[in-house]
This record gives sequence, C-alpha cells and structure tokens, in this order.
Amino acid sequence: MRGSFMSFLAAVESARSVAVFDSNRSAVRVNGTRMLADLDKLATYGVDPEGGLSRLGFTSAEDSARAFLREAAGRAGLGSTVDQAGNLFLHPGETLPDGPVVLMGSHVDTVRRGGRFDGTYGVVAGLEVLRTLTEHDLPMRHTPVAVAFSNEEGALFPYPFWGSLAVTGQLEAPAAAVDRTGRSIREPLARAGGDLDAIGEAVWPPGTVAAYLELHIEQGPVLESRGIPIGVVTGIVGRTIMEFEVRGKQNHAGTTPMDQRRDALVAAAKLVLRVEALSADRKLCAVSTVGDLAVEPGQANVVPGRARLTAEIRDLDPTRLEVVEALLREETARSARQSGVDVTCVTTMRSAPVRTAAPLQAAIEAAAADLALPAVALHSGAGHDAQMIAAVAPVGMIFVPSRDGISHAPEEHTAPGQLVDGANVLLHATLRA
Ligand code: GLV
Ligand code: MN
Ligand code: MN
Repeated sequence: MRGSFMSFLAAVESARSVAVFDSNRSAVRVNGTRMLADLDKLATYGVDPEGGLSRLGFTSAEDSARAFLREAAGRAGLGSTVDQAGNLFLHPGETLPDGPVVLMGSHVDTVRRGGRFDGTYGVVAGLEVLRTLTEHDLPMRHTPVAVAFSNEEGALFPYPFWGSLAVTGQLEAPAAAVDRTGRSIREPLARAGGDLDAIGEAVWPPGTVAAYLELHIEQGPVLESRGIPIGVVTGIVGRTIMEFEVRGKQNHAGTTPMDQRRDALVAAAKLVLRVEALSADRKLCAVSTVGDLAVEPGQANVVPGRARLTAEIRDLDPTRLEVVEALLREETARSARQSGVDVTCVTTMRSAPVRTAAPLQAAIEAAAADLALPAVALHSGAGHDAQMIAAVAPVGMIFVPSRDGISHAPEEHTAPGQLVDGANVLLHATLRA
C-alpha cells in the first residue's frame, strides 16, 4: 500500500516537473534587442560607397564580420571553429562537437551592393538561439551549433555554395578556384582560417548533422502581400548557370556595311531575348535571367568583336531544367550559324531542386502555432545553403517577409519585430528538432 502511495507521489512529482519544464520551454524567447544590435553592427562591415553592402566572400570585409561573430560568441561563453573550407561554426564548449548536432545558420557574404539581411540574418539568429539555449540551460536531444557557410553568393570567387558544397563532399576542383582576374582562392581562404590543401577534411562524417535549420528573409513578395509573418519552406528551386562567349568580327563602325557585319553584341542581344522568352513566353522554366554581359572592345565607333554573357535558369523540376539547358544550347548554336558568329557555352553550375524534410516543416509549423504566428507553406525561388546540406541531412527553412519583395539590393528590409518573430520560431523549431 505504502509502496503504491509512494509511486503515486513520484508520478505526481514527475508530471509536475514535466509541466514546469514544458512551460519553461514554451515561455522562452530570444533576446530580440541583442540580436538586432548584432545585425546593426554587422551592417557596418563592407559598406559600399555606392550603396548597400559589398561584403564579398573571402574579402577582408567578410573577415571582419566573421571576427565580430567569434567575439560575440566568446562573450557569451561559446567557442568557435573554422574548418578547412572556411566555414565558421559557433558552439557550446571549446571544440566543435562531433555530432549529431542541430545546425542553424546561413552565410554572411553578400552580392555586390547587396542588403544587410540576406544570409546574415540566419547566422545572427542562429547565434542568438544558441545564446538563449545556453542561458536557459534547456536540455536538447542534439547539441545546437550555429554556422556561417563560406562564399554562398560566389560574387568574387565564382563558386557559389563553396562552404556547404565542401562539407557535403560536393565541391568540385577546389584547387583550381580563381576569381575573375585569375587570383587563386588559396591565400584569401587561408586568411579566413581555411586550408586549400586539406579541404577534403572539411567533409562531415555521416550522421554529423541531425537537422539543419536555415532562417532567411523571403527575398520575394508572397508573405508581405498576404500579410503573413512566417513562411514554412517546402522546397528550393534548382539552378543552372551557363556562360556564353560570342565571337564575331571586330571592325570599323562607320565603314562596315550593315549586311557585311558579324556583330557579336547583336547576336548576344538576340540570345538575351531568347533566355527571357524561355520562362516569360514559353513557360519552359520558372524564371530565366541574363545577369551579366560584357562587350569587347566596348567603344561607340567599333563593331563589337566579342561578347560574354551568363544565362541562369531556375525551376522546381529537375527534368525541366535539363530540357531547357539542352534547348538553349541547340537554339543558340543554330542562331549563331545564321548570324555568322561563333558561340561557345560552358555550364558552370547546376544545383538540384530539393524538398525540405516533412518532420522539420511540422516542427516549424508547430513552433509558429505556439507563438500564435500565422504561417504559410511556400517554396523558395532563391538558392540557399540548405539545398546543399539536403544531400546529407534533413533540412528545414523558415522565411520572414521582405519589404516590397526586394533582395540582392541595398533596399532589402524586414521590420525588426518580424525579424524577432522569425528568430523565436527558429528557437522553438530547434527545441523540437
Ligand atoms: C542566392 O543568393 C541566389 O541567387 O538564389
Ligand atoms: Mn543571396
Ligand atoms: Mn542568402
């Protein structure tokens, strides 16, 4: 009798402590003021005199931003580690835990004249969640770790997703990596704490990451236009980047008759319109863009002899990406023959579309519901490190609204309250991961 009364008391006590523990867990919030102050500070690294931030991957501006993050982690009693690929990890304890870990983060490099939130928000929020979990000493199934992946944008060294490709063993020919002027990545990588000769050692052993959660601004108009604060990302589009070189015949602009020209720029201009039509008119892929075009020699009185341009296509369906890539090559070759120019084409990047993990989508939805924040499922038209990490671990992504849907531009903006809401969703999704 006494025995059963004691076990009844023990059961009541244990139920009570679970209830207290649960209410502690559900009441916990990030320190929004501290996180917003970190974001303000990071916006001082890489300020471009022409507007926005130009904190390109593997530059001294990015080094300074990363040094700030390491100091901030140190002040919170956290450790930091840089791997051979230049990825920066912030973690409890002196050394990076072996795993399995719950990883939260994104990147702190920007495009040229980009905004202050793309990538950086996810890293700063990851650090803030880590600090919050440590301060409240909340027990977790897996050790939480924050990450800033290196060179996500590939704006200077044209190897987007460098860091997340390296840890997942998908980085091809890193030793040959150079910027557009031919400068090797070796020294800038070493300055960031990496090691080109040992980059293979950055690959994670299987099972290192139990879950990867990336919080990001939406970079598009959906959440703002629907007045919904949280996006639960269901998938991320794939992307193919092709580089074309058009060679015609450089000649005098005054004396060369129009019917005897082999104008590289005119041929390139037709290609620009063909790329636009792939998505805009023919609906063969979700979006298609020529984002870069250079003309040589680039003078008013010279028929251009050479033009180089990029074509980027994106879609959620890998087959459509393959079909469009092949079609663009074939149609461009045919049109080049008709225009009397030579065109070469190299595909410099292919990233596959991915789906996010259903249990992490559910964790994000539940976190938003607990915080009384409306949420909606949507896909990402932008690429993210999560896309690479999906090859080795379950990934989840949370979006917050972008004002006017603008990103990759100085006007990029999200209201402070929305940034804090997103970080709290990351915190509670992490507690569920
Ligand atoms: C990543 O920044 C992208 O261009 O989608
Ligand atoms: Mn970006
Ligand atoms: Mn980004």
